[in-house]
Amino acid sequence: MARRDDYILPHPFKLLLLTVAMAALTLAVTLAQAAGQGAGGPPAMAPGAERQKQLVQMVRHDCGSCHGLTLAGGLGPALTPAALAHQSPHYLKLAILHGRDNSPMPAWYPLLSEADAAWIAEQLLGGFPDAR
Ligand code: HEC
Repeated sequence: MARRDDYILPHPFKLLLLTVAMAALTLAVTLAQAAGQGAGGPPAMAPGAERQKQLVQMVRHDCGSCHGLTLAGGLGPALTPAALAHQSPHYLKLAILHGRDNSPMPAWYPLLSEADAAWIAEQLLGGFPDAR
């Protein structure tokens, strides 16, 4: 007959499980903070100069792969000021953060904070800066 102890995980393995669980939790909290800054709270601060530079690069490269290198449209629609003239910054921000159901437009909230998305929406409406 097997001893009861045989069914209990060895100690080091339990420790590993705990470590993995903690790491996952920490990551989840960090992502939630990055994405959800100010949900219901005061408006999130605009991204700083260095982050703005990263965002310009990202939009030109990652978003450009679908929306066209000049953002004039491709698989995704044009994101030029003329094309977006009838859209509100809020609506564009939500499209960027949450994507569009039943379309290739992905949700970007794992990578972009609310402030990042709001900033990108404003830049698109005003004419998106060139990557430097
Ligand atoms: C895999 C392709 C793809 C990528 C990458 C992509 N998009 Fe889109 N995007 C689309 C498609 C397709 C639509 C149209 C969705 C629909 O049918 O409403 C769209 C719609 C949008 C809209 C709404 C436009 C409007 O007039 O309603 C915005 C804003 C937008 N994308 C911004 C971005 C930004 C910013 C990025 C990068 C952070 C990005 N997209 C990356 C495919 C993509």
